[in-house]
Amino acid sequence: MNVSVIGLGKLGLCTAACIASKGHCVAGVDKDESVIETLKDRRCLVRENALPELLNESFERISFSSSVEEAIFSTDVTLIIVPTPSDRDGVFSNEAVVSVLREAGSVLKRKKDFHVVDVVSTVMPGSSEKEFIPLLENMTGKKCGIDFGFAYNPEFIALGSVIHDFLNPDLVLIGSSDDRTGECLRNLYESFVDSSPKFAVMSLINAEITKLALNCYVTMKITYANELARLCGAIDGANVDVVSEALGADTRIGGRCLKGGLGFAGPCFPRDNIAFQKLSSAVGAELFLPSQVVKSNDFIVDYLFDIVDERIENGAALALLGFSYKAGTHICECSQSLKLMNRFLEAGYLVLAHDPMAKIDVPLRYKGSVTVCDDPLDAVISAKGVLLLTPWTIYASMDLKILERKLAHPIHFFDCWRALEDIASIDTVKYWALGVRSGRKE
Ligand SMILES: NC(=O)c1ccc[n+]([C@@H]2O[C@H](COP(=O)([O-])OP(=O)(O)OC[C@H]3O[C@@H](n4cnc5c(N)ncnc54)[C@H](O)[C@@H]3O)[C@@H](O)[C@H]2O)c1
Repeated sequence: MNVSVIGLGKLGLCTAACIASKGHCVAGVDKDESVIETLKDRRCLVRENALPELLNESFERISFSSSVEEAIFSTDVTLIIVPTPSDRDGVFSNEAVVSVLREAGSVLKRKKDFHVVDVVSTVMPGSSEKEFIPLLENMTGKKCGIDFGFAYNPEFIALGSVIHDFLNPDLVLIGSSDDRTGECLRNLYESFVDSSPKFAVMSLINAEITKLALNCYVTMKITYANELARLCGAIDGANVDVVSEALGADTRIGGRCLKGGLGFAGPCFPRDNIAFQKLSSAVGAELFLPSQVVKSNDFIVDYLFDIVDERIENGAALALLGFSYKAGTHICECSQSLKLMNRFLEAGYLVLAHDPMAKIDVPLRYKGSVTVCDDPLDAVISAKGVLLLTPWTIYASMDLKILERKLAHPIHFFDCWRALEDIASIDTVKYWALGVRSGRKE
């Protein structure tokens, strides 16, 4: 099948590379000329595990241009993967999708063969039937489902493992305007996935709701584990990992996304909850869970701030370890660590910051109060309090013998993931673990 991918960013470029790696010809389009020039130069701007290798392997089967026209004429299916940023109210903006559809509409009007337009970007439920299809039908004078097909087919990938997740999905969600379009996308996925996913082929509106409902359910589950962690942290002898491991063994619950910790972040989860809440109010069926999930997630920052602030005087140096929103990616969008850093800086603490991948974005007015360290040990030995915020393996595998030798003063160590419990054996370390009361040595 010949496939075009419009929008070659974090998700689009990985999608294009994965599809091409399985033998399809892919026309990659981006409106940003510099993106196209860089890709033609065989340089990869998106930092994602295994992507450079996959692109290199598939280079002969991907063309790069900024022409939507060329891409639609030369392919059977067009995947639209452009940004849909949240507006001030938390509703996703369709501006970029509509702009691509306008270009696509003028080409589809002239194209004789049946073509499938597939929106992959996350959109507000109702967008396809109320906005996208009427736009294309008006522009082309053609009938959706007969002269062209329309699909909404969002991905459930995690940054850092996009390639793996894309090629090994549990679920392929396809909302389609008609059977032919649904079948076409199902065939496309069957031709490249390495797993045996559940194909959920449904109406456009159901697929739009499912995308948000699934992400919001996952954040609710994470939040449940985070709340359990706070509860266990307040009860002598309690340990959140013991409790959640048992919970996860029940198949009604399942063990994934059940590690109590610092909370969820990133470019999708936080905004999806807000959008889901907005949707429910807009249709007059107010949901209560999404806003509580957001509230609980935000509260973790205040909770941790207070834990540290009670034990360490303002003005002291704090080592903050980990800024990306999770291990395995450099992305810091909505990172809880950044929120905490701002709280500490506002309160007058000095910050020694480390992350193996992320660029730590220090607000201009606090530049003098933050030192970015290349080595986490340097940050730890110079601080009075240390917070392990992102569970990168380099933190869990810090050499405690070297640390003990270099530590010239007592430190408080706040471990948000129970990743370095052995550090409690060092006499000069006062260890506190989120979710474990008995682990305290204070
Ligand atoms: N990144 C993720 O983890 C992820 C996961 C699931 C869903 N999504 C959704 O996928 C969509 C894209 O996300 P992303 O992270 O890849 O965005 P991104 O910002 O990394 O990339 C978007 C790309 O689209 C290009 N673009 C913008 N307008 C265009 C236009 N009119 N024509 C052609 N190209 C255009 C930009 O130049 C950019 O290269 C969003 O709706 C997002 O919510 C992303």
